[in-house]
Amino acid sequence: MKINLLNHLISSLIIADVGVDSVYSLSVSNAQPPSIPATGPRTVGGRVCLPDKFLLQDFDPMRPISVPTYDLPKFDESKYVGPTDEIDQDVKDLLESLTLEQKVGQMAQYPHSTFIGCDGLINTTAIELYVDTYGMGSVLTVAGGVFSRWAYWSPQRYANFTNTIQQIAISRGPKIPIIYGIDSVRGAALIKSAVIMPSGYNVAATFDPTHAYTAGKITAKDTRAAGAHWTFGPLADLNSEKLWSRNFENFGEDPYLNGEMVYHSVKGYQGDYKKDRTRIAACVKHFIGYGYPHNGHDQEPRYIPMNRLMEYFAPPFQKAFDAGSATVMETYGSLNGEDMIASKLFLRELLRKTMEFKGMMVTDFDEINSQYLKHHTAFNATDASFISLNYTSVDMSMIRNGGSLFVPEVVQLVKAGKIPVGRIEESAGRILQLKKDLGLFENPFSDPALIDTVGSAQDVEAARNTVRESIVLLKNENDVLPFKPEENVLFVGANINSTRYISGGWQVTAQGPSDAQGDLVYDGYGDTILLGLQKVTGKPANWIQGYNITGYAVDDLNEVVRLARLADKVVFGFGERTLTEIPGDINTLDLNKEQYNLIERVAVETSTPITLLLLQNRPFSLGKLSKYASAIVNGMLPGPYGGLPVAEVLYGKYSPAGRMPYTYPKRDYQSFVTYYTTIWNEYDPEFAFGVGMGYNNITYSNITLSSAELRPGKPVSVSITATNNGKLPQSEPAIMYTTQKIRRRYSPERLRVRSFDKKVIAPGASVEFNFTLTAEEMMFWSVELEKELEEGPVDITINAGNANAKVASLYLYED
Ligand SMILES: *[C@@H]1O[C@H](CO)[C@@H](O)[C@H](O)[C@H]1NC(C)=O
Ligand SMILES: *[C@@H]1O[C@H](CO)[C@@H](O)[C@H](O)[C@H]1NC(C)=O
Ligand SMILES: *[C@@H]1O[C@H](CO)[C@@H](O)[C@H](O)[C@H]1NC(C)=O
Ligand SMILES: *[C@@H]1O[C@H](CO)[C@@H](O)[C@H](O)[C@H]1NC(C)=O
Ligand SMILES: *[C@@H]1O[C@H](CO)[C@@H](O)[C@H](O)[C@H]1NC(C)=O
Ligand SMILES: *[C@@H]1O[C@H](CO)[C@@H](O)[C@H](O)[C@H]1NC(C)=O
Ligand SMILES: *[C@@H]1O[C@H](CO)[C@@H](O)[C@H](O)[C@H]1NC(C)=O
Ligand SMILES: *[C@@H]1O[C@H](CO)[C@@H](O)[C@H](O)[C@H]1NC(C)=O
Ligand SMILES: *[C@@H]1O[C@H](CO)[C@@H](O)[C@H](O)[C@H]1NC(C)=O
Repeated sequence: MKINLLNHLISSLIIADVGVDSVYSLSVSNAQPPSIPATGPRTVGGRVCLPDKFLLQDFDPMRPISVPTYDLPKFDESKYVGPTDEIDQDVKDLLESLTLEQKVGQMAQYPHSTFIGCDGLINTTAIELYVDTYGMGSVLTVAGGVFSRWAYWSPQRYANFTNTIQQIAISRGPKIPIIYGIDSVRGAALIKSAVIMPSGYNVAATFDPTHAYTAGKITAKDTRAAGAHWTFGPLADLNSEKLWSRNFENFGEDPYLNGEMVYHSVKGYQGDYKKDRTRIAACVKHFIGYGYPHNGHDQEPRYIPMNRLMEYFAPPFQKAFDAGSATVMETYGSLNGEDMIASKLFLRELLRKTMEFKGMMVTDFDEINSQYLKHHTAFNATDASFISLNYTSVDMSMIRNGGSLFVPEVVQLVKAGKIPVGRIEESAGRILQLKKDLGLFENPFSDPALIDTVGSAQDVEAARNTVRESIVLLKNENDVLPFKPEENVLFVGANINSTRYISGGWQVTAQGPSDAQGDLVYDGYGDTILLGLQKVTGKPANWIQGYNITGYAVDDLNEVVRLARLADKVVFGFGERTLTEIPGDINTLDLNKEQYNLIERVAVETSTPITLLLLQNRPFSLGKLSKYASAIVNGMLPGPYGGLPVAEVLYGKYSPAGRMPYTYPKRDYQSFVTYYTTIWNEYDPEFAFGVGMGYNNITYSNITLSSAELRPGKPVSVSITATNNGKLPQSEPAIMYTTQKIRRRYSPERLRVRSFDKKVIAPGASVEFNFTLTAEEMMFWSVELEKELEEGPVDITINAGNANAKVASLYLYED
């Protein structure tokens, strides 16, 4: 049936056959929201404005039931579901009925803080003002600092807020529901009690995209429970610069691995989002080249030759579009000297023509205004809006609180004949179509039934499973690991007894919980490594803080050395504060000297074997500590539910199963080096991409190619047998790389990942991994921006960098 958007929601419109393809019962559509009472805040001495130290639990004491298990509706997700060129007739009709102001209003997205009073409560006057004056099309959550208590809410409080906005939006002016966007990038991590997932880094390290899918699906459900419909994820940026503060957020440095994770992440968020009301729209970001700042600081300029951009940076975005990503976000700052937000080349030619993206594009935070506020690339707000609308295909402006509001300027530009109204209709049409696809005209309100599933034990288990699969064992001399229950193991470091320090940014707030909030902010959702150790060993762990999260001594270090000497084994936790973006900028990967010297002293003055436990945003230089350590474990940022699985791995309840999704440099000068550097140049990192092992000795044998010749249109099958010679079950990833040994004119990369797979191998058993390699995959972008194939000998390596690697060779022909 067709939904007439003109008449939607005016009376208690009921879309009768929603249930036809849906096995899930939506609440009855009408113009009244479900009543989801929001209790709190507790008043303090009759105060209106809340003091900074007001505890979140006092502000929002509500907790969902968190049923132990639940089922979600099932839809066919095998086909492409995503944006198309078509705008439905009813959407066109609606668009035509709107005034110019209302059309432009659809393109404006305002921060939620605009609608929260200083008492932390909903300011309906402000909502009415923005609906009436600006025809506001969208609202987003801006999660910052102490104000997180005005953003980090229970799903009940969130739903109460979003439903209140919807009720006002659908009862005034053109009566169009808003689309609500939120950074649900690792679980619905800004919604209290929603299970926060491990960082993107960890998901990549699993080398199993089902983890990206599962995280996306859980995230979508919890986001919908809060009445939001749109996440600003996944990230398709590459970790190509290790100083960058946003390393942990991405799926690693490899375009193929990254692209696979991005693809399945989009599928997880969206499913069949045109029918399934437990799913949300994805927004792949940041288009394009964001992860390559020229001095390692966030938002600094990027300079990327076009052939490298197409070879490495574009493919993960293409995977997102292939998966049907409904929206895309352009990136902060500039690429190759030009502002991204003003770029015809990238935001029209590359995005819409070359990569054929059909969906809706939103700006990064206030980027249109940044042209005149920061970049010196526009004279004023009107000029900035003109430039972005004229040169790019951007559809929605994400607007900062208190800056220019976009709508007045754009209306003026259209009236002055500078911007054709068709340009506005193009964008407003995409936005309205997305709202229809997400079912907002059927029912703009949240589904109260979903609230009970938020924080489910089922989701906690999914998060822990991802952590288990992600932890990378990098070194294990003399089988120091796993620890035995009877051993006296001393644990040192602030992140051993902290939930927030093992979780990183983009959870609770953008920058993670503040030190003032501490772990209390989690209100029991999550645990620490210390708690995990206690659960695994059945007794309290032997822990001394020693140094704080930034590596400064907080205890008498002689005492730490003395305790280390008494212990059978000692573990040092390495971390960093929960920061991202500009606040997370650093100038060197060197460790704090106090921390470094302490570990060196333990190495020199005692004979206790040392384990380094890395739980950090990015790879800090280990220097000699790498030699001193008997064992090194990379847990990345496993998130609030990482405590137990980290402990399980240390004590051998689970054999490590992750592989490095990025190159771990030795020193600062290698911060830009990736494993796909050219074949004859230096690649001498601390840990190579793709390395890692378990507690079992896995041997590979019988590598077989279906042909010794690789030609276009004639794929070659590669198979290999892996055998578990150990005593524990092993979840084993196999990674297939190619190396073209000679490639005319373009020095080949030392390695490129072409495929990977992961299988569980029982003790004593063997499994077969099968891969396919095509000649087309061996094509590369020339400086003339043509995709070329050059003949030459090719090595196929399984598990390059690991002791059990196996190589087979074939010859690549151009035809
Ligand atoms: C939000 O909560 C308040 C306070 O309990 C209640 O009066 C109001 O009806 C709720 N609104 C919605 C839309 O659920
Ligand atoms: C609510 O919003 C209106 C309009 O923006 C503003 O004038 C008023 O001060 C706000 N109220 C509170 C309590 O912040
Ligand atoms: C904005 O800048 C443009 C370009 O210089 C100028 O024509 C226009 O008058 C300015 N508008 C305002 C409101 O200052
Ligand atoms: C951009 O503006 C210029 C000057 O007004 C105009 O010639 C051109 O057609 C505009 N381009 C687009 C894509 O609107
Ligand atoms: C761990 O930290 C908490 C504060 O977050 C503290 O109350 C507790 O005593 C610490 N645990 C140990 C074993 O010191
Ligand atoms: C760590 O300790 C140093 C030195 O006392 C102090 O300056 C720093 O603020 C502390 N860091 C944190 C996160 O507490
Ligand atoms: C693993 O087992 C194989 C075959 O028994 C043996 O050659 C190899 O040295 C073992 N590797 C390790 C790391 O123990
Ligand atoms: C490898 O292949 C040989 C010959 O086909 C076979 O005898 C052997 O069992 C195979 N090894 C494994 C581990 O499958
Ligand atoms: C792998 O490929 C071989 C040879 O083509 C085939 O015999 C085998 O069944 C395949 N194994 C799996 C697990 O697909």
